[in-house]
Amino acid sequence: MNKHIILTGFMGSGKSAIGRILAERLKRPFLDMDSEIEKRCSLTVSEIFEKLGEETFRDEEAKLVRELCRKRGWIIATGGGTLLRPENRHALEKSGRIICLFASEEELIRRLKGGEGRPLLFEKGVENRAKELLAERSQIYQQVPWKIDTTGLTSAQAAEKILAGIAKPPLK
Ligand code: S3P
Repeated sequence: MNKHIILTGFMGSGKSAIGRILAERLKRPFLDMDSEIEKRCSLTVSEIFEKLGEETFRDEEAKLVRELCRKRGWIIATGGGTLLRPENRHALEKSGRIICLFASEEELIRRLKGGEGRPLLFEKGVENRAKELLAERSQIYQQVPWKIDTTGLTSAQAAEKILAGIAKPPLK
């Protein structure tokens, strides 16, 4: 059975929407880590941050990563901060191909301003906070060898770009 395809990247980079399309195209199961954690905790991500704290959310992420590494062949959308813990990155690297989705800072901010439910962006305004976090995390995202720029692309176009890429060296 194939290895996982794992989409990571900053908030607003399109992980969930693109992941769903990839799963449909490749006929593989899809898992959105944030949604799975929300289901397990019976709380939204914002409520988890507010009531239980960010560390609890990060622990839930790490627990889920360990579980997912025992499965094969899924399309997985991580949360934007899942790779912050090196053990998550190492475990995910072993179980599949990690693809980091990028977009220009302007476009990410535009996408994020239209959304809600992201507790890390509540303070200081979306734009300031997104810029701050992007600067803090850019090295972590840069470390992922396979990157896809989604600037100006629809989710369907970005998914096609990924499919064209993975068609070349087949996933084992
Ligand atoms: C986070 C990103 C969110 C969610 C949580 C923390 C982050 O996921 O996991 O709010 O640290 O970047 P999305 O990237 O799907 O918004």
